[in-house]
Amino acid sequence: MDSIVALAKRRGFIFQSSEIYGGFNGFFDYGPLGSELKKNIRDCWWADMVRRRDDIVGLESSIIMHPKVWEASGHVAGFTDPLVDCKVSKQRYRADQLFFSPVVVTGADGVAQTIGYVSALESEKTAADLQAAAETMKRKKAVQGTLAPVVVKDFTEAREDEYALIPSPATGEPGSLTAPRSFNMMFQTNVGAMTDASSVAYLRPETAQGMFVDFKNVVDTGRVKLPFGIAQIGKSFRNEITPRNFIFRSREFEQMEMEYFIHEDADWAKCHQDWIEWCKNWLLSIGLPESHLSLYAHPKEKLAFYSKGTVDIMFQYPFGVQELWGIAARGNYDLGQHAQASGKPQELFDEATKKKFVPHVIEPAVGVDRILLAVLCAGYAEEDVKDEKGNVEKRTVLRLSPRIAPVKVAVLPLLKNKEALTDRAKALYKKLQRRYAVFYDEAGAIGRRYRRQDEIGTPWCVTIDFDTIEKDGTFTLRERDTMTQKRITEADLFALLDEQVY
Ligand code: GAP
Repeated sequence: MDSIVALAKRRGFIFQSSEIYGGFNGFFDYGPLGSELKKNIRDCWWADMVRRRDDIVGLESSIIMHPKVWEASGHVAGFTDPLVDCKVSKQRYRADQLFFSPVVVTGADGVAQTIGYVSALESEKTAADLQAAAETMKRKKAVQGTLAPVVVKDFTEAREDEYALIPSPATGEPGSLTAPRSFNMMFQTNVGAMTDASSVAYLRPETAQGMFVDFKNVVDTGRVKLPFGIAQIGKSFRNEITPRNFIFRSREFEQMEMEYFIHEDADWAKCHQDWIEWCKNWLLSIGLPESHLSLYAHPKEKLAFYSKGTVDIMFQYPFGVQELWGIAARGNYDLGQHAQASGKPQELFDEATKKKFVPHVIEPAVGVDRILLAVLCAGYAEEDVKDEKGNVEKRTVLRLSPRIAPVKVAVLPLLKNKEALTDRAKALYKKLQRRYAVFYDEAGAIGRRYRRQDEIGTPWCVTIDFDTIEKDGTFTLRERDTMTQKRITEADLFALLDEQVY
């Protein structure tokens, strides 16, 4: 992960927000290459999800909506995380990410006693960390007997009498952690000149509500008929208690969500399954390896009361297997809530039964930033390769799919000071630039120029050499992943790009 974060900074993919002021936790900026990569991810999704389908239309709703939207959706009352404060260090923790265990030792007399508590923050090895801390405690307190294996619980499961006994991860000492309390994750602002309760509004914590609130507008104007979807890409904001793992969980992020409306009697389970398949195939189409993807079905007892089922597509990040894309069957809860709160029915008329009904919805919801992190993690590699003289050297390569790579082709004249070569190279560069993101580079040895492109994920380099200008007009096409080279005509180069960059 450290190498990926370092590459992202070094090559201008991702910067910490407001870095010259020390950074701002949970916020990030996308640099020249990062903004291209992000745009390509968005564009691919939009092309496949909206433009290339007849049953889905797009929407761009406002970020700040009427506060009643968030009351009706349940976010004002329920979009909360359990928060624990450390009164000494002033650190805040999400209670469900703060783990603890009593430390139990059984003496020679067979009597078990709790000699204290240990705590650890959520990680890949929480249980091992707690066990190690328990062993240290037993040794420090010089207690004789057999240490029981730790029983890992999170802070939401702690009894009231345990709060003061569990050590704060910040200080290592008990007595400073508060009881968990609900913390609403929506960012508040005030709209208009007044800053009283009547002017409170929220930055949206999801894009989805825009699709529900505009449902009738789209139906009345868009010539859509069931089943159909409304899709949106846009920024969302959550005051996460513990933003972490680089851009994986941040406070300002971008979502790509689609609400697929179906008849109340439709086979929702099949539709849900179809969308899970679609989403997985889409991830494969932008180059994520199947080996890194898995599915997680939320247990029935943990679903919201209106939800019929949620399946997450999980990705194997370097810091563990984590949620990438959630596909939820939400029934008709959202439209029903808005109908009730606004007094405006959100129904359709069924010609067959002559009855009105509120459509149900299947919702695939994914974060652009999480996809971007996944493609960086899956694509990053360090390899030993031989240079032209046969010496072994290290190359860093980013294996990005041509669909999303920030630069599709680098155009390289073999020599910098031969005008015939640079003129031809610049002419090709200008021609390619009309349709693709391309890069022109004439500085340094050709091997070094290839390496620079490998590191930013450019799938192909074309070199203009003497054969190009003196013989047949062909170029050398060098392929990033295999590092193989072959001669190619300009027409074939355009055909290759047309096929691979879509
Ligand atoms: N409308 C449903 C909804 O918003 P969610 O599971 O809370 O569902 C959907 O969010 C997706 O948005 C997640 O699967 C994830 O990819 C992304 N996401 C959520 N919170 C995020 C955060 N704090 N930082 C980055 N991405 C986030």
